[in-house]
Amino acid sequence: MTDKVIIFDTTLRDGEQSPGCSMTVPQKLRMARTLAGMGVDVIEAGFAAASPQDFDAVREVARTVRGSTICSLARCNPGDIDAAARALEPAEKKRLHVFIATSPIHMQHKLNMSKAEVLARAVEGVRLARTHVDNVEFSAEDAIRSEPEFLAEVMAAVIEAGATTFNVPDTVGYTTPEEMGRLIAYLKARLPAESPVVLSAHCHDDLGMAVANSLAAVKAGARQVECTVNGIGERAGNCALEEVVMAIKTRSDFFGVDSGIDTRKLYPASRQLAAIIGSFVPANKAIVGDNAFAHEAGIHQHGMLANRETYEIMRPEDVGISRSTLVLGKHSGRHALADRVRELGFSLSETEIEQLFGRFKNLADRKRQVFDADIEALIAGEQRDHAGPWRLDRLHIASGLGEGHLPTASVSMTGPEGQTAQEAAIGDGPVDAALKAMARATNTEFELVGMRIRSISEGEDAQGEAELTARIDGVQLAGRGVDTDIVAACARAFVEILNRAHRRQTTPTATLPRQISAAI
Ligand code: KIV
Ligand code: ZN
Repeated sequence: MTDKVIIFDTTLRDGEQSPGCSMTVPQKLRMARTLAGMGVDVIEAGFAAASPQDFDAVREVARTVRGSTICSLARCNPGDIDAAARALEPAEKKRLHVFIATSPIHMQHKLNMSKAEVLARAVEGVRLARTHVDNVEFSAEDAIRSEPEFLAEVMAAVIEAGATTFNVPDTVGYTTPEEMGRLIAYLKARLPAESPVVLSAHCHDDLGMAVANSLAAVKAGARQVECTVNGIGERAGNCALEEVVMAIKTRSDFFGVDSGIDTRKLYPASRQLAAIIGSFVPANKAIVGDNAFAHEAGIHQHGMLANRETYEIMRPEDVGISRSTLVLGKHSGRHALADRVRELGFSLSETEIEQLFGRFKNLADRKRQVFDADIEALIAGEQRDHAGPWRLDRLHIASGLGEGHLPTASVSMTGPEGQTAQEAAIGDGPVDAALKAMARATNTEFELVGMRIRSISEGEDAQGEAELTARIDGVQLAGRGVDTDIVAACARAFVEILNRAHRRQTTPTATLPRQISAAI
């Protein structure tokens, strides 16, 4: 019988805490529903004690998302554990995840605690967590750089105290597959035979080995993998969910385990997250990148035509990439759109389909043919927060070529108090002028850090997608916009950035540093 590997997703906690990946509570909720819909076993919805927003996010996910176990992170102290337990209270299935560092460098320089003190704190944390829930995970932060004997001692003690999962984080992304496999095997050999305790791997990607290390852990007996959609996360990121899941599925002959994930939901989830956090998925990204299934070389194309398996180890449809050439247009009705949305792997409510249909009709009026990529972009647009508070109502551009011309933009925007703000600016080009006018209207100082533009579907009337990164108040923020007019796409992306900046300024500050590993 094939063993089951538990998929523990931490997109909303470890992923979200990395720069440029922050999400609002409604965005986290949408992502959590998607994760539950694809069969993720455990959703780490946040770190409840970190800030009022983190608490609300965990609580809302716990209140409304069904099917998956909902988890909150907590340090081994009563305040954190109490906040996590309160936030998780409405969950159908819940897990409390407590952690403390066990490596010499962390214990000495960060915690300023002896081994005995760390051990005692770990046990107290697990005991207290067990008074709230039956399902308790313990993480030995920086396990990879911990002394294996001490790690085994901590493992035995926290299991005795009631931990049901023992997680081995490679917090700094330092390990290699062979080393990770050896450590998991070492720990497994120290568990009583038939122990129900699950060993887990949590790998960061600093040396580009997070997925390989997680797979090595599975091969050595770990039965939980912690990962994030698109591999987002601290620094170089975490183990990518879609990669580890597809490796386990495609090489089930080698790993002999099953994740239970509906892999056809992987691509839509990847695009949904990219739309929410406003960042492109690199074209060469394994599983979900635009080129992941593209065969360009003539010799490959020849082989593919003869037999797909000559060069294809997975089918695009297995990860939710549609092969359809079906094109919708302005005469297509609600049902055709709803069918297409379903075939593309998205599960939208009737209200969401209704809203999408309005936007689809609008687009079909401007664009003769509406391709799958257009529909995905429309859905992605729906996934972003249009609530504002800033809204761009009108944008007018005058641009041209030749000496003496001055690219000019005027904008009309609606602000947080419903006020109208109208401004104009000149710039180096139409995009520059538009951003400057919007910055004036919102009284914002910004520095444009990056801009990427691409066409997302075919034909001369294709929609353009713009991704902008700007620094406001010393913080780098990203935004994404889609429109048939590329200047308008840039302007939409900038509105997203302005709204992110506004939310940062007006929401209560976090009670803990976002880099939780810096704090005990
Ligand atoms: O990377 C890490 O060590 C973590 C733990 C809190 C699990 O994210
Ligand atoms: Zn981590």
